[in-house]
Amino acid sequence: MAADRSITSVPPGPRGPLLWHSIRFNRYAWSYLAKVQAKFGDTFTLKLPGGKGGWVFLTDPAHVKQVFTGDPKVFHAGEGNSILLPLLGKHSVLLLDEAPHLRQRKLLLPPFHGKRMAGYEDLMRQIARDTIAEWPVGEPLRAWPHMQAITLEIIMRAVFGVEGAKLNDLRSALEYLLGEVTNPRTMLLIALLGERRFSRLKSVRRRLAAVDDILLPEIARRREASDLAERGDILSLLLQATDEDGRPMSDRELRDELMTLLVAGHETTANSLSWALERLIRHPDALQRLQDEVREGETDVWMDAVCRETLRLCPVISIVVREIQEDVEIAGHRIPKGARVVPCIHLVHRRPEIYPDPDAFKPERWLDQTPGTYTWIPFGGGVRRCLGASFALFEMKTILGEIVRSMDLQTTTAPGEPMRSRAIARTPGGQAEIVVGRRTAPATPEVPATVG
Ligand code: HEM
Repeated sequence: MAADRSITSVPPGPRGPLLWHSIRFNRYAWSYLAKVQAKFGDTFTLKLPGGKGGWVFLTDPAHVKQVFTGDPKVFHAGEGNSILLPLLGKHSVLLLDEAPHLRQRKLLLPPFHGKRMAGYEDLMRQIARDTIAEWPVGEPLRAWPHMQAITLEIIMRAVFGVEGAKLNDLRSALEYLLGEVTNPRTMLLIALLGERRFSRLKSVRRRLAAVDDILLPEIARRREASDLAERGDILSLLLQATDEDGRPMSDRELRDELMTLLVAGHETTANSLSWALERLIRHPDALQRLQDEVREGETDVWMDAVCRETLRLCPVISIVVREIQEDVEIAGHRIPKGARVVPCIHLVHRRPEIYPDPDAFKPERWLDQTPGTYTWIPFGGGVRRCLGASFALFEMKTILGEIVRSMDLQTTTAPGEPMRSRAIARTPGGQAEIVVGRRTAPATPEVPATVG
């Protein structure tokens, strides 16, 4: 008998209290999701906070496609990100939906076009070199904090365009704030208090004010800068952008988008770089091939493959979330309005029919395979696809290139580092411990550290 399509239902999933699933999902995301899939199949429902009717996980690329190509009026992403409201502010592209989202997205997109990336190369290289130059030789070194420092510096200079003495003030204000924000306890506090009450806490207001007191005057000053049109940093480009009605972004909108770019782009890239190092030192052949390619100045075919494979196997964001605004039919279920549908990046990337031997790190699989729109989704998809994808890939390649060009990395037979959850992204649990074997002479001349 045919199913009655007027009856809403979600696919089955594990029973038990919401708190139990939240903890397991947050703590053990990758292994927990694999266990649930093994038991319930490709489509399952988890009880997690928010989303009336549960979180419906999708792992079949056909279902992922349905979400990514679905009507943005039905598939909202903004609600799912509301936990970030106190930090990002209400204008953030991450928190908006429908027409307001589209407006902000159109304003933000042009500076992130792939063609513009070469203009950031010298700056990225120099920042990486300055950090690497300090690394001790022959001793274990946790790469992750260094990757964090490099990507923060890149955002402050390439995106915010801040230089000179103000850089130190901004760095300390941001480090303090980001340290708090990415702390799972903070996320729990926001979930318990709600975004509005959390924002009113004195300590939170003080920390946000410390950042705003630097950013807002910087935005106002930059707006008046005589060299605005010649500057290459992203804030300067955004200041000149106008929407279809000829309106530029207000200072407050710009502040919120800068915080968004920082939060979305800093830790994600640092963690992806850390995973790349963690994988490479356990795969001597892949590392050797990368070193040869970089040092011989060949085209970056293998580097591309290494980055794609790292983002496939170790996706720092393991899911994307859409809250549905009307009943939707997916995977043979009529999912009720208010539930969340969740393309699961991690499990899509582990499908054996797309990626044979899916748990293995094999960059060579990308030599004769191009990333599919719905099968390689580390940057999500559709109208919400990561705005900084080209920037992030370019940054990963530039920094990794600088590391393997100027350093010999010692390989290891130690087991892989377990995944550790931070508030926003997944990171190697041992902070990507490496040993730098030997420093090699710089293969390329010193480069000026400005945004071209
Ligand atoms: C390897 C590094 C990165 C990864 C893995 C990553 C991943 C993601 C993912 C999964 C999403 C959600 C997409 C969706 O909902 O379908 C996203 C959104 C976004 N990302 Fe990234 N990201 C990275 C780096 C960056 C960088 C460097 C920037 C900017 C400097 C950036 C800016 C954004 C923005 C603004 C959005 C929101 C887009 C929207 O809602 O329209 N990301 N990113």
